Amino acid sequence: MSTTSASSAQVSLTGVKPTGEPHLGNYIGAIKPALALAQEYDALYFIADYHALTTVRDPQLLRHYTRSVAATWIAAGLNPDRVIFYCQSDIPEIFDLTWIMSCMTSKGLMNRAHAYKAARDRNEESGKTDLDAGINMGLYNYPVLMAVDILIMETDVVPVGHDQLQHVEVAADIAGSFNHVYGKDFKFTIPQAIVSDTETGRALPGLDGRKMSKSYDNTIPLFCSEAQLKKLARRIPTDSTPVEAPKDPDSSPAFQILAQFAAPEITAETRRRLREGGMGWGELKNQLFEVLNTRLSPLRERYNALMDPDSELDALLAAGAEKARKRAVPVLAQVRKAIGID
Ligand code: TRP
Repeated sequence: MSTTSASSAQVSLTGVKPTGEPHLGNYIGAIKPALALAQEYDALYFIADYHALTTVRDPQLLRHYTRSVAATWIAAGLNPDRVIFYCQSDIPEIFDLTWIMSCMTSKGLMNRAHAYKAARDRNEESGKTDLDAGINMGLYNYPVLMAVDILIMETDVVPVGHDQLQHVEVAADIAGSFNHVYGKDFKFTIPQAIVSDTETGRALPGLDGRKMSKSYDNTIPLFCSEAQLKKLARRIPTDSTPVEAPKDPDSSPAFQILAQFAAPEITAETRRRLREGGMGWGELKNQLFEVLNTRLSPLRERYNALMDPDSELDALLAAGAEKARKRAVPVLAQVRKAIGID
């Protein structure tokens, strides 16, 4: 509740790995719902730049993605004055605690982690004899670092997609192991996942009608130019039903995207016209472009301004790191005391 005092609200933490350009599917499936958490929780958001290092090996690209994620979230409505917004790499306490917590983590738990198992499976399928070929320790330790992201901020809830659910369970496990040994001196909050329903119906279709996802290469970038947006909207697949014929709006990817971005009255009117016949797919796609462009142009402007090297972006992140460290420093101090290193 926005009326609850900050100290009594539960804490939510959203982590974003900077590994690509944001697209419409990210906005509807992850960014918008995560921003809504700030109504109900003491909300923290951070950019998991050290996590991205397990895969992004181009320094310029990592720098770009990191700033791009930050600019995206602010452009999308994140208010840095009302929430805590920071970069993982600006919080050195996270890395101290990662060593400590890795000493509380059984290796078997990491062997069972999905991402690591999937990488080994891929090696097996491609006939490699060393199933760990090409797997770095960053990938292997990924869940411990993620657990610490969560635990050091004394997080109650973590919004995640299904693919990240196991990671939150691992965090709860590791916290439990620590609490079991040192709990009389310091206890971590046990975090809980909030699983988003994007995979069960709300997922946005992409340019080929499948779920919009970077891995399918079917995305519409959130901040592409107006011309590009128009081109991409036109590329969304439709069938050859003639203009006059009645159409099923809900089986049309263009309509499904429209429904997520247009005002409800507009969506209802378009649905009616498609059903009755007389509205062609071409007109629908033009309307989709107009709706997207109207909705996104103010965000695009803010994003571009923030991406300027001289913008306030870096200062905002520095201020956010200061607020985040106010939470992390005392947690690490208590943990160090509890384990006998102080
Ligand atoms: N692993 C998450 C992802 O790939 C990103 C992440 C890192 C994260 N640390 C986190 C998410 C802590 C939530 C909480 O999307």
